[in-house]
Amino acid sequence: MSGTTSPFDEDPDLGEVVVARDDLHAKIAELGTAITRDYAGEAPLFVCVLKGAFIFLSDIARAVDLPVEFDFMAVSSYGTATKTSGIVRIVKDLDIDLTGRHVVVIEDIVDSGLTLNYLLKHLAVRQPASLEVCALLVKEGERRHMPDLRYVGFTIPDEFVVGYGLDVAERYRNLPDVRRYRGA
Ligand code: IMP
Ligand code: MG
Repeated sequence: MSGTTSPFDEDPDLGEVVVARDDLHAKIAELGTAITRDYAGEAPLFVCVLKGAFIFLSDIARAVDLPVEFDFMAVSSYGTATKTSGIVRIVKDLDIDLTGRHVVVIEDIVDSGLTLNYLLKHLAVRQPASLEVCALLVKEGERRHMPDLRYVGFTIPDEFVVGYGLDVAERYRNLPDVRRYRGA
């Protein structure tokens, strides 16, 4: 169990580092500072979209110096392993009432934008005082469905990536860096 080699080192499906851990942490500190400034005097509600955003949430939570509250949603989007269809099913809904709340949706990655669009429509009808998105990663390219993203960490090439919460069939979420996935 111990030692200096990792099973990830020899995994042929793992490609180059797309966003290194130090860059992730520096950017998250910046995002945290921006949110702290923008929501000064408020107690925003962070809505984490499970599962992929759980690691990002835990880091950004501690980078924000406000009395933040948290809730979680789980969605499953139909599609193949590496492409979403835009048909989204809510597997776990929120526990906290959004009425009058300043809501910030914490997302791991936005690709087509279909998943997020669906979620935002679903949340907007619950009368939050405001509704914004903080997405760690956004894929490059023209997106017909791209919603407004108030906070974005990194824009990355349009390739499938894993790590820092992102998976393929539940694997690789605990990789500290975001890396290209070559197995797709
Ligand atoms: P969209 O609906 O096409 O924007 O896809 C969004 C969802 O698909 C994200 O919330 C992720 O769960 C998943 N996803 C999209 N691209 C990637 C990727 O490169 N790696 C891992 N998951 C991804
Ligand atoms: Mg997601």
